[in-house]
Amino acid sequence: MKTIITGDRPTGRLHLGHYFGSVQNRVKMQYDYDTYILIADVQALTDNFENPQKVRENVHELALDYLAAGIDPTHSHIYIQSCIPEVAELTVYFSNLVTVSRLYRNPTTKHEVGQKTELFGSDGESITYGFLGYPVSQAADITALDGDYVPVGEDQVPHIEQTREIVRKFNTIYGETFKEPEAVLSETPRIKGLDGNDKMGKSLGNAIYLADTEEEVSKKVMSAVTDPSKIKKDDPANPDICMVYYYHKLLNNPNLDTICKECKAGSRGCVACKKELIKVMMEFLKPIQERRKYYEEHPEEVERILQEGTASARERTKEVMKRVRKNMKLDYFE
Ligand code: TRP
Repeated sequence: MKTIITGDRPTGRLHLGHYFGSVQNRVKMQYDYDTYILIADVQALTDNFENPQKVRENVHELALDYLAAGIDPTHSHIYIQSCIPEVAELTVYFSNLVTVSRLYRNPTTKHEVGQKTELFGSDGESITYGFLGYPVSQAADITALDGDYVPVGEDQVPHIEQTREIVRKFNTIYGETFKEPEAVLSETPRIKGLDGNDKMGKSLGNAIYLADTEEEVSKKVMSAVTDPSKIKKDDPANPDICMVYYYHKLLNNPNLDTICKECKAGSRGCVACKKELIKVMMEFLKPIQERRKYYEEHPEEVERILQEGTASARERTKEVMKRVRKNMKLDYFE
């Protein structure tokens, strides 16, 4: 069986952008692949080293969100990155194979550097060695488990590309050791926000979280952007520029054709259309929230899942590291 390795930083709750961008894919794929899902606490610290408590709390939240979203612990291993010290070791070996200028050229890192520079001033003052190097540790996450496929959102593609470069370089210097992993993108790699923004994100303030209550969902849906030319309830409008319609489509509302026709004909008011979307969205979230509730009430089960997942990931990593040390002539006392 081929292996999937993927994960997220524990910095906040999962939202629909995560779900449609990658989590849904992982849920589908877990039955056909050996699946490892990491809670990237070490990577979260590159950005949040001053807030260890925040990272710690979100490790638990992320585990709950994964289980709620349908990651099935009888098919997937969910594990905690910092509990695999071999990955830190491999990161050090990999760090020789990447230039600093290449790290600065990584488009995702570059974008994040831009954001930080805006917040904190010049690059040199705000960009740490650990932050700049996180794609190297991500390469170690993936290769330490011999990952074949990495189902992720599109912002992660540069990191997988960088992983492939590191693998090629490693294999050239130390002999064939790793395979080149491939990113797997979903059919909806990036979903728009209800506010019309190109992307859904925590920092954009437009996220609908998997754990949102009906009240929270209602508030967000009621303020969604619709066709601005529609002023009165019975004005005809263009569903293609309406975020409410976009979400009806995304959530597979069986009523979609009728909505489209009625909207174009002016026989559907936006308020009614939004109310229908709230219903569809809550129905979509219901099984997710029911599973979350179950695991919230059974913390010992979540603990056991994380422990077993971590033990299994570590076992596998140890095997890979034997190969690494041998090929790097570091197998002193073997
Ligand atoms: N970079 C990912 C994120 O921002 C998290 C991550 C860490 C990851 N290591 C990984 C993803 C390995 C896939 C594979 O959420």
